Amino acid sequence: MCSHDLHSLIEQCKPVVQSLIRKQDRRSQLYRDRYEHTLRVLNWAERIQKVDGGEIAVVSLAVMFHDAGWSDTTNHAVVSADLAEKFLNGMHVEPQVVDRIVSAVKTHNLRGIPKEDLSLENRIVMDADLLDELGVTALVWDALATAGDANPGYVKVFEKDKKYYSSAAKKISQLKTETGMKLYQERLKIWGLLLENLAYELGLSDPDLK
Ligand SMILES: [Fe+2]
Ligand SMILES: [Fe+2]
Repeated sequence: MCSHDLHSLIEQCKPVVQSLIRKQDRRSQLYRDRYEHTLRVLNWAERIQKVDGGEIAVVSLAVMFHDAGWSDTTNHAVVSADLAEKFLNGMHVEPQVVDRIVSAVKTHNLRGIPKEDLSLENRIVMDADLLDELGVTALVWDALATAGDANPGYVKVFEKDKKYYSSAAKKISQLKTETGMKLYQERLKIWGLLLENLAYELGLSDPDLK
């Protein structure tokens, strides 16, 4: 697929995916828009693909559909893969390319699969998904989300974000590409610095330790 065709296919799938996500009966956290998440994951995936390689058409179209579907009874990756397959077949994308996209959508949240058993494209989609909502974005998100709590305040934001940071830091072993791992480490480093400085500014940490 040439880059012009790919660009046009992505532009055509954007409103389709947006409307599929809007129709989902899936509870989202406050201020978390899953379509905006999809577009940010696309950015991360393109950043990884530029360095690590892989077929850009497979990576970007799999990302576009990875969270398009939802069901209370079936893994959303499977539902999303079916939606991707239908759309791409309707657009007359080569069957072999469709199969690879469907596979990358299906495995995007199966993080227990060893990286040796996954194609590069599948691994890029998984890492790009993990990279969203880390770092500065995470802190902003937690600040927004805290605003909906009773008695919101800076300390509550700090506490919420510190917990989120710890859970994200534990996921580092799940990264499956070299560049994805590097980007994840960078985000964690910046995020940790933000939290340290926030604790200091709020008087929660000993200034002598700064
Ligand atoms: Fe997902
Ligand atoms: Fe996602």
